[in-house]
Amino acid sequence: MKLSVIGAGYVGLPTSVGLASKGHPVLCIDIDERKVEKINTGKCPIYEEGLSELIEEVVSKDMLEATTDTQKAVANSDVTFISVGTPMKEDGSINLEYIKQAAEDAAKGIRDKDAYHLVVVKSTVVPKTTEDEIIPILEEVSGKTAGEDFGVCMNPEFLREGTALQDFLKPDRIVIGELDRKSGEKLEKIYKDFDAPIIRTSLRTAELIKYASNSLLATKISFINEIGRLCKELEIDVYEVADGVGTDHRINRDFLDSGAGFGGSCFPKDVRALIKVMEDYGEKPRILKEIINVNEEQKTKLVEQLQKHYKDLSGKKIAVLGLSFKPGTDDIRQSPAIDIISELKKKDAEVKAYDPEAIENMKKEHPDIKYTDSYTEALENTDAGLIVTGWGEFSEITLDEIRLMKNQIILEGRKTQLRIDKSYREGLSWP
Ligand code: NAD
Ligand code: UGA
Repeated sequence: MKLSVIGAGYVGLPTSVGLASKGHPVLCIDIDERKVEKINTGKCPIYEEGLSELIEEVVSKDMLEATTDTQKAVANSDVTFISVGTPMKEDGSINLEYIKQAAEDAAKGIRDKDAYHLVVVKSTVVPKTTEDEIIPILEEVSGKTAGEDFGVCMNPEFLREGTALQDFLKPDRIVIGELDRKSGEKLEKIYKDFDAPIIRTSLRTAELIKYASNSLLATKISFINEIGRLCKELEIDVYEVADGVGTDHRINRDFLDSGAGFGGSCFPKDVRALIKVMEDYGEKPRILKEIINVNEEQKTKLVEQLQKHYKDLSGKKIAVLGLSFKPGTDDIRQSPAIDIISELKKKDAEVKAYDPEAIENMKKEHPDIKYTDSYTEALENTDAGLIVTGWGEFSEITLDEIRLMKNQIILEGRKTQLRIDKSYREGLSWP
């Protein structure tokens, strides 16, 4: 089956490349011409482990081609995945502007072909969006009927940035929300070589499974961060508590790593969107609201801890180590580092920042701080170092490097395997 994928971002690109590597010819579509050009020369426009190598391979085998022409790509394929962004509006609700445009563009391609076509919504959308917003656009613009001339599925994606390709190729489960049986059967065929259970549901059930999953993972993080605050008071290591709790298979150890709060393009926006949907239905999203409140407080806890050393941060030189919202990515969307740097700037501290991948992105957010080429350079002559993102390389900081600091204080937002003497370091949620 020939596939087209609209949106070559953190989800669309691994989807395109992953499906091409499974033997499906893929037309990958984006409005960003620079991305399209890069992909067609076998280069990867984002940083994701393993993706560069596989793009090169599938492009050289003519299994993947990128284009800006949605209408033509849809008309020349059998199945179209829509994986454009669904960001957050000011009020926390979902912004459907991009997905509606993508649906309109896809519908023009469906209009141009005679054969049956399948549209698969992969973007995260709140329950009933596919039924109430996407299908009407597809029908109106194509002049055809859903369930007869074309099929529709909602297939949420559960991959994580940093391990996107691996997560896409080896998922825990594949959820297929279907308009009708024929649509679901066609999509299931594409996934036949994937070693994962397939769950077939209605369109709106699939949509809610995605929000409930992300919100429950975010709940685990805010929960352990709240427990971490007590741990700090009691001189207990929250990571030991998490190990003890997470060994219970009903709870599971994953997503119980305390830190500077969750960021990224999904948890913050998806929990907020679910809050908005519940309120629109007259329900009170009490737990969901607290997940966000705890997280907002958590983001600047490191600065509060720093102020136990320096009440007045004015003129203090502070190294911020780690800028991406998590290790393994150059993505800084909603990264706790953004808020931490803002807070330090507000208090007139002098910030030096380092990250192995995310400096260029952070420069757009905070152009007025100093960036360095290594963590050693960032630490030099500073009054304190804050480890915000747990990149593996920070565990290699040596005592000699610490000695380059003016005052030798390292505050760890995320627990790393730092081997330097305990007297130089402090954890956010451990002694
Ligand atoms: P992204 O911003 O990285 O990529 C979206 C891409 O779509 C961009 O390259 C943009 O140029 C392109 N685009 C926008 N409108 C277009 C149009 N009309 N035609 C063609 N291309 C268009 O977004 P993302 O992080 O890949 O997220 C996509 C969706 O997947 C969102 O709904 C998100 O919530 C969901 N999701 C994201 C992740 C993740 O880890 N990032 C994981 C699971 C689900
Ligand atoms: C998350 C989900 O894990 C994916 O399943 C989902 O598909 C995706 O959102 C999405 O819908 O976009 P992602 O945001 O890429 O993936 O990254 P995560 O590994 O989940 O990390 C999210 C944030 O939580 C990061 O800031 C990370 O540092 C933080 N986190 C994660 C913790 O603070 N503690 C943990 O134990 C785990």
